Amino acid sequence: MKIARTIAEMKTLRRSLTGSVGFVPTMGYLHEGHLSLVKQARAENKTTVVSIFVNPTQFGPTEDYATYPRDPEHDLALLEKEKTDIAFIPSTDEMYPKGFNSWVEVKGITDRLEGACRPGHFKGVTTVVAKLFYIVEPTRAYFGQKDAQQALVIKKMVADLNMNLEIVVLPTVREKDGLAMSSRNTYLNPEERRAATILFKALLLARERWHQGETNAKSLRQEMISLIEKEPLAKIDYVSIADTETLEELSIIDRPALASLAVRIGKTRLIDNIKLE
Ligand code: PAF
Repeated sequence: MKIARTIAEMKTLRRSLTGSVGFVPTMGYLHEGHLSLVKQARAENKTTVVSIFVNPTQFGPTEDYATYPRDPEHDLALLEKEKTDIAFIPSTDEMYPKGFNSWVEVKGITDRLEGACRPGHFKGVTTVVAKLFYIVEPTRAYFGQKDAQQALVIKKMVADLNMNLEIVVLPTVREKDGLAMSSRNTYLNPEERRAATILFKALLLARERWHQGETNAKSLRQEMISLIEKEPLAKIDYVSIADTETLEELSIIDRPALASLAVRIGKTRLIDNIKLE
């Protein structure tokens, strides 16, 4: 595996490649969810590139940028094992040099859900992902369905800006008890880890009630909220049943819907979703 630590090194390596390039952008602290993206990228492309960059511009001032878990040596060992061809690990100073002031912003769908709770978050995500796409020039880029809104926002950016690549979204990878894999799960103490299963339980409840014929989205949201409120360590940021494409809240589930939620377990904010379709 080659390691590019500067943009120039990455661009030089890119120029030497022929054939398709699969790209997995990450913030590191890799888990099975990331590795499922790497595996798929390897299966579908001649070369696989994985970036590791904890992007400061997508964290709000009171969020966990400073404490976000980092373990680059372990990440590199995992990537090596997955037979990744190139790991790209740029520095913050090079990605955001002094005076940096150009931004990529998708309007509309970024106002809802995560965007409403985390102002500026998606502007940071789209800016860094656009930069990474310009540097790596992938044929395909891989994202997890766990960050469903992020995947939609990136697809919209790629379509609106005529970027020449395909976005592939892969299913959420879960722990045995259903908790969606996330680097932030590491913040949870044992009691919180147990409580965190409430997110997936609430999503399963939504799916079960929908399978039983419940199409009233307000009732479904209320049933999910009531279940989560039984967990003393959980504090709800939002519970949503929305159109899978526009993310507009539904009153009647008469089209494919995304049940999604953000819940704080202690100090840790977790998100998850499930499709009703
Ligand atoms: O999903 C993530 O890990 C990040 O938002 C991404 C896409 C790597 C951009 O920093």
